[in-house]
Amino acid sequence: MKVLVTGGTGYIGSHTCVELLNNNFDVAIIDNLSNSSIEVISRIYKITGKKPIFYNTDICNLNELNCIFDKEKFDAVIHFAALKSISESVSEPLKYYTNNVFGTVNVCEAIKRNGVKNIVLSSSAAVYGINSGKAIKENAALLPHNPYGRTKLIQEQIITDFANTNKIGYVILRYFNPIGAHKSGLIGENPLGEPSNLMPYISQVASGRLKKLNVFGNDYNTHDGTGVRDYIHVMDLALGHINALKKLLDIPEYKLICNIGSGHGYSVLDMIKSFESVTGIKINFGYAKRRAGDIDICLADTELAQKELGWKTSYNINDMCADEWNWQKLNPKGFLS
Ligand code: NAD
Ligand code: WQD
Repeated sequence: MKVLVTGGTGYIGSHTCVELLNNNFDVAIIDNLSNSSIEVISRIYKITGKKPIFYNTDICNLNELNCIFDKEKFDAVIHFAALKSISESVSEPLKYYTNNVFGTVNVCEAIKRNGVKNIVLSSSAAVYGINSGKAIKENAALLPHNPYGRTKLIQEQIITDFANTNKIGYVILRYFNPIGAHKSGLIGENPLGEPSNLMPYISQVASGRLKKLNVFGNDYNTHDGTGVRDYIHVMDLALGHINALKKLLDIPEYKLICNIGSGHGYSVLDMIKSFESVTGIKINFGYAKRRAGDIDICLADTELAQKELGWKTSYNINDMCADEWNWQKLNPKGFLS
């Protein structure tokens, strides 16, 4: 079975490629390297002993996509390629709509032209509206509150409309907060510039690259006043894609939209404490005002993923912190080191 992974040199894509190769799928990657490094291909090879085919191509270029599809004959596509910075999506919305929405239309065009029957899409908890603090079910209101989240919701709508009409199976996975890295420390998240997400920030403070973590708000309605999130180890997330793919290949025109999270909530202070206890490194932090758009609690209801995909998380918060640190320690400047 041959799988196309768009965005396969990125953070989640690279970990998923490792699991695909470990599960004996043939893998081809399309990535324009706008937020990743070609070095990832040799790291994947070091981990798995197998090299994915790599195309340095932009999904916005339909001609190039069609040429690759003609040549490779894919059984399924896993579509990760997207821009993902919430703040940049506010300052440059058209860049996000072009890349994420137009890019997805192109991927669907190439799928249709070449008769591919299965697609897995990376979606996000960002498609949900501000919620009540309870675990979010998939049928909760979809009210994304930034352009990035809106592009993810539009991607979902494109895939469902297109797949229904063209008899294509799809699984749309709404990830909560992916963190951690492969055990080897050879691949991991590689933020360009100052990270905006919590875990890369903590690990760069630990390595001395950043001076101090600002904890955004300590007056939330949570057990210690700091924001609570559903963190998920990126290798658990990668395995979720394998289960989704196997289901699609087993059941023609299978359709699913489901959350991918752990169902457990940890606050910012919980994450700092866990990181400190696992690594023995004190994190320099202080309280700052709330970050615009943040909410108290964001937690996944994980029942549907368990029932439909037979999938649940296996890594705990300490594993996530240990693997995050191992990656950061071995690659203090990301893929530049
Ligand atoms: P990432 O930036 O590390 O990976 C995305 C990859 O796509 C990068 O390698 C980038 O170079 C590539 N890319 C972007 N636009 C492209 C284009 N036009 N053509 C070809 N390649 C292109 O991000 P990630 O964290 O691995 O995210 C992967 C997917 O998961 C995205 O769709 C993102 O929206 C979604 N997601 C991520 C998170 C998260 O917290 N990381 C959470 C929920 C959903
Ligand atoms: C986690 C907690 C912050 C940084 C985002 C997107 C979501 C998904 C995952 C893509 C919050 C606090 C953070 C810092 C802090 N991405 N924090 N200091 O905002 O839950 O989710 O990434 O789809 O859609 O919204 O993740 O890691 O930014 O924040 O105190 O320097 O850490 O306030 O409580 P978030 P995050």
